Amino acid sequence: MGGLAATLGAVGLTPFELAAQRGQRGAAAGGAAAKPDGPPKDPQVEYEKMAKLANNENPYGPSEAVMKAMNDAWKYANRYGYPDGGIRDAIAEHHGVKPENIILAAGSGEILKLVDDVYLPDHKIVVGMDPTYGSVYQYTTNSKAKAIKVALKKDYTADIDAMIQETKLHSRDVGLVYLCNPNNPTGNIVNKADIKKLLNSIPEEIPVLIDEAYHHFVDNPNYETSIPYVLEGRRVIVARTFSKIAALAGMRLGFAIAPKEMVGEMGPFALSSISSVVKYGGVAALKDTAYEAKMKAMNKQLRDRTTAELKQLGWETIPSDANFFMVNLKTDMGPIQTEFQKRNVLVGRRFSPMDNWLRVSVGSDDEMKRFVTVFKEIFPNGPDAKKPTTSAGGI
Ligand SMILES: Cc1ncc(COP(=O)(O)O)c(C=O)c1O
Repeated sequence: MGGLAATLGAVGLTPFELAAQRGQRGAAAGGAAAKPDGPPKDPQVEYEKMAKLANNENPYGPSEAVMKAMNDAWKYANRYGYPDGGIRDAIAEHHGVKPENIILAAGSGEILKLVDDVYLPDHKIVVGMDPTYGSVYQYTTNSKAKAIKVALKKDYTADIDAMIQETKLHSRDVGLVYLCNPNNPTGNIVNKADIKKLLNSIPEEIPVLIDEAYHHFVDNPNYETSIPYVLEGRRVIVARTFSKIAALAGMRLGFAIAPKEMVGEMGPFALSSISSVVKYGGVAALKDTAYEAKMKAMNKQLRDRTTAELKQLGWETIPSDANFFMVNLKTDMGPIQTEFQKRNVLVGRRFSPMDNWLRVSVGSDDEMKRFVTVFKEIFPNGPDAKKPTTSAGGI
């Protein structure tokens, strides 16, 4: 079961689809002669039951102001994304750059794909950390580029010296350096001195993509956004999203901030399939700084409470500056992810080579309580027990 769940996770099924699979498997397991499990499960009902701690989403949803702005924009649903509420200007102003520095996308995932299309053609190389948010590596498979994945250091932070070394060694073929800051899945930051060192050490023509999807959650004096490097004219692309702190994951809005010349290189490849409605939502989200501060504070409080509870039970976690954290299960995470799922808690997915670590998103107060209760149920004897307890009596 663990293997199957891991495989499902790896092929990227949504929690919705996973829940549906679960219903089907339950029925299939009964076989022709056995009593069926009952009527097939409604995937939506199944999904609603779950504590959703697997996708680093915002559990509270968009702010009142954002909802109102989007509701007021429904009248443009018949238009191709325009009028747009002035979203490009609003993003530029908010971040102290010019509109010509902005590329809009339907989520920052689309920015990562765009960067791959432009800077990683056949045989080019991307240098990045391992593990990290894997999309850029996945896209290289299609574009026939290659990835040099640099292992994290023993403390699970980026090995910037090794990344510099690999980039210099292959400099003729490196099309991109990718840094996720804070890093997904570890939740820790790449500190500002390391970013400076990297940019000052590699050939200046090599583009560097800095994925700041979790920027708004960070509370760490060693962290700094990399937008100032764009203003300096360096070949730096900063990717941002409205999916996380602004809670608009399902509405799809992200953007890149880059030097004008790079916007010119990427622009022709951009899809820009963004709805009018979310553009109005985005403008309102930028203005609603009070909501953003509240989300940040609530996330920190629940993340720190949950990791403190785990620590008290003897478990190791990686200090996180994001809306998720990792806990060392000391056993393969696949079967444990399945055990959580059986108890209506969605966690994970697998981030090899950290196969013994489980990534847990920070949900609502209730969801985090459910997570801790289930965690204790699966591991009643703490981290030093030989085997976790499973609902089937053993994994
Ligand atoms: C680091 C990172 N970058 C980019 C994305 C893509 O997010 P979206 O396309 O919703 O903006 C995610 C999503 O989880 C992420 O974790």
